[in-house]
Parts: sequence; structure tokens; C-alpha cells
Amino acid sequence: AKKAVLGPLVGAVDQGTSSTRFLVFNSKTAELLSHHQVEIKQEFPREGWVEQDPKEILQSVYECIEKTCEKLGQLNIDISNIKAIGVSNQRETTVVWDKLTGEPLYNAVVWLDLRTQSTVENLSKRIPGNNNFVKSKTGLPLSTYFSAVKLRWLLDNVRKVQRAVEEDRALFGTIDSWLIWSLTGGANGGVHCTDVTNASRTMLFNIHSLAWDKELCEFFEIPMKILPNVRSSSEIYGLMKISHSLKAGALEGVPISGCLGDQSAALVGQMCFQDGQAKNTYGTGCFLLCNTGRKCVFSEHGLLTTVAYKFGRDKPVYYALEGSVAIAGAVIRWLRDNLGIIKTSEEIEKLAKVVGTSYGCYFVPAFSGLYAPYWEPSARGIICGLTQFTNKCHIAFAALEAVCFQTREILDAMNRDCGIPLSHLQVDGGMTNNKILMQLQADILYIPVVKPSMPETTALGAAMAAGAAEGVGVWSLEPEDLSAVTMERFEPQINAEESEIRYSTWKKAVMKSVGWVT
Ligand code: G3P
Repeated sequence: AKKAVLGPLVGAVDQGTSSTRFLVFNSKTAELLSHHQVEIKQEFPREGWVEQDPKEILQSVYECIEKTCEKLGQLNIDISNIKAIGVSNQRETTVVWDKLTGEPLYNAVVWLDLRTQSTVENLSKRIPGNNNFVKSKTGLPLSTYFSAVKLRWLLDNVRKVQRAVEEDRALFGTIDSWLIWSLTGGANGGVHCTDVTNASRTMLFNIHSLAWDKELCEFFEIPMKILPNVRSSSEIYGLMKISHSLKAGALEGVPISGCLGDQSAALVGQMCFQDGQAKNTYGTGCFLLCNTGRKCVFSEHGLLTTVAYKFGRDKPVYYALEGSVAIAGAVIRWLRDNLGIIKTSEEIEKLAKVVGTSYGCYFVPAFSGLYAPYWEPSARGIICGLTQFTNKCHIAFAALEAVCFQTREILDAMNRDCGIPLSHLQVDGGMTNNKILMQLQADILYIPVVKPSMPETTALGAAMAAGAAEGVGVWSLEPEDLSAVTMERFEPQINAEESEIRYSTWKKAVMKSVGWVT
């Protein structure tokens, strides 16, 4: 059959905590042409520890590229039309590998991991000057969430890592760096870089000077020689060089020219380019980002200041305020894998629908402590308000409600910091396919929730950055190009008073989850 004629295409790797995807878009229409997704294993070797295998992650990228290319072939779409590739990724997750062999020297320490709690406590006693030392430079609180302390742990505890650093063989990176290095040749000339958005999540990066901060590296005792080069979010970093796999090898020579941490990528994919525009992404965790333009705004209410994007070497940087919730989709996975009350994640909607209420049951999924706005590492998950009447359907409903209440807490903080309350919430991410969740969210926020009909906004953002890069130039970031996006809207259906009562009971439950570990 004759191959379909299309404009230039752009591919995007979306490497999240729970799964990896590769997606291909038409750069002229932003239409998603084909994609493939693979779930990623998480290992919990000890209580509070969360690890992933960097090689499994890389393998999943190859598999997704291969399968997507196969599907494009079945659609008669010529993969030689793919002109650029963007990368978006779970942020903070820390990898150290050997640059001579390409072998990871330990598992990836995942952003959710809590093993560095005592490191954080010890470091917080040694903060030089005032307590603002870390926050004023990085926009972040000193927390187990960010890469610097994970890297510190690897340097303190893994002999292979120590030896490789001494022998100048060690490279550090977040998942973007690990993937870009591997996809551009690995031990045979791979490019060791990261972008400003990912760098801003390491706690080693100065978000004002946009460079690794010497004082922070000294404070965390991190050798600067192992850090990647920091680049903008949209420029050619290197060319694809994958020899081992036939189909994925068809992309040999295609530039990798976009890179954004997944939450920044979703902000871009949701076209939130104006000061005050915000989006909330429901993935493993849940992350509400509000574009604050060229201003670095510091929160008074437990939010982070982070780099939103920088489209090109000589282009200005944009910042965002971020409310981070550690556990959103992860609570559904927990109900599936640990309690076994559902067989697939999608089943949660059916269970919740049976009852349509939690019947007074509240579920605070503080599996990794509480992030924004509390930053309370001592919290642990609780399910409370149980009676003999409670069944698995109520617990399923309470789990969905928990995601919505946590969003309400960060939205409240965002409104207080910004002064102008959001009139509606733009949402995206896998969980937004759950209509019960979306309706609950509108009810609990008491503002409309708006969802684009194409939910893959994270990948779209990475593809846009890649396609718009200098030297690629197949995607225009002008807002007029982007107006045709259709939306689904969920309006609040309960009254404000009822919504407030539920919310204040949730807050009571949160207080009970705090202080479980000392
Ligand atoms: O900061 C962690 C975040 O980037 C993870 O995103 O999509 O895997 O929940 P996700």
C-alpha cells in the first residue's frame, strides 16, 4: 500500500515512575499518530526504600520506540519523517553509572525513596548561615525528595560508586541524563547533559545563575566532576545512535533536541505560557504547576519554586510555583498490588461507582511522608473512619477522594501565594480518564476542572520543545498554532458547604497521619 504523506513528525519519550511511553506526533497539527507504553517495575528492598533498574528503564524505551515504529509502519507512515526526538522524565530519580562500561553502579534511587531521612536531619543541623541557604538558591526545602541527598547516600554507602568516582569513571544523572547519554552512544561517545528543569530538582542547581552551585556541592560534598552539563530545554544535544536494535535503529541520526522534567513538559503541553496559567498532572504523584513568568516567586505556603522551561540557549528562563503530592496514581497501584482489591487500575472507577461515597472513610496515602504543603517526613498512610459497614468499594472511593483533597490543599496554597484564585483547573495525566475522579475533583475544589481531549500533554510538551529547537525548526511555539485543542469540562455539582465539611474532615485525618515515625 502507498505510504501516507504527512508533515514532519516528532517523537517523544515519556519516562514516568510507573511506565515508559514513546509517542509520535504530527508537528503541523499536534495530532498523536501512534504510541506504545510499557509498565516499569518498582522495587521496595526495605521499608521506605524505592528503587528501579536503570537498564530496565532503558530497555523499556527501546521497546516502546520499536513497537511505535512498527505501529507507524502498519499505518503506512514512513518513520524517516521523524525529524526530532524529545525526552520527558520522572524527575529527581538518581542514577550513577560507569562511563567506560555503560553499566549502572547501583539501582536508580527513586524520588519517593525515604532512606535519606537521617541524612536530611543531620544536614539540616549543619545548614550554614540562615535556614534559607538551600531554599534561596534552589527554591526547594531540604528534603529526601531531591537528588542531592540520594547521591550523597550512594557516595557514602556503595563501594562501586566510591571507586568509580576515585577512578574518574562515574557519571551522575537524573533519568533524562541516563537516557540521553545512552541513546546518543553510551560508552561510545554518549552526551552527558541535563536540562535546566531537571537540574532544578537536584538541590545542587542555582535557579538564579542557572549553573551548578559550588557552595551547595560543598555542603552536600558532591564532586562536581560527575555532574552533567546543563543545557536549555530545547536545543540539539546529540544524535540518536542505537545499534543493537533493528527497528529502534531506524531512528539512527535523528537529533534529540528537547528535554524537560515531566511536570514542566506537561505545563508546556497544556500551553500554559502566560504568567498565572496552571496545570495539574495526575501520575504516580500529582503536581500542580503555575507559570510565574520570568519572576522567581518564593512561596510562603509550602510550595516549591522551580524552573518551568527555557526554549533555547539564548532564550529567557521561565519559572513556576509547584505543589507536589507524592502519592496519587500510586495509591491505586497499591490497592491493586498490595491489597489485591482490584485487578487493573481501571477497575477502581467501577468499585467507587457502586457506592458513590466513602461513607465517612478517609484514606491518607502518606506512604512517603507528606509533601506539599506540609513537608512532613514523619507522616505515614492511614485509613480511618471505618465501621462494620465499610467495604472495599468505600475504600476505593476514599482513595480517589484522597487524590482530590491533596490537590485542594495545594490549590489553596497556590491561591494564597498568587493572590488571584484560579478560576478553573487544567488537568492531565493517566488518572484523568477516570470520570468519577474528575467530577469529585470539581466538587472538592468547587471550581470547574478542564481536561484536554488529547491527554498526553507531557509527551506533547517534550515533542514541542524538540521540534522547535534551533536547527530542527519543524514546530512553532506561537500560541495561535495551539488554539484548536478541544476540552472536556467538569462543573462542581455539590454545594460549597458540603464540600467544606468533607474537606475539614480530611484535614482531621491528615493530622492523625503525622508523627508515626520519629
Ligand atoms: O517529581 C516526580 C515526578 O516527576 C514524577 O512524575 O508522572 O511519574 O508521577 P510521575
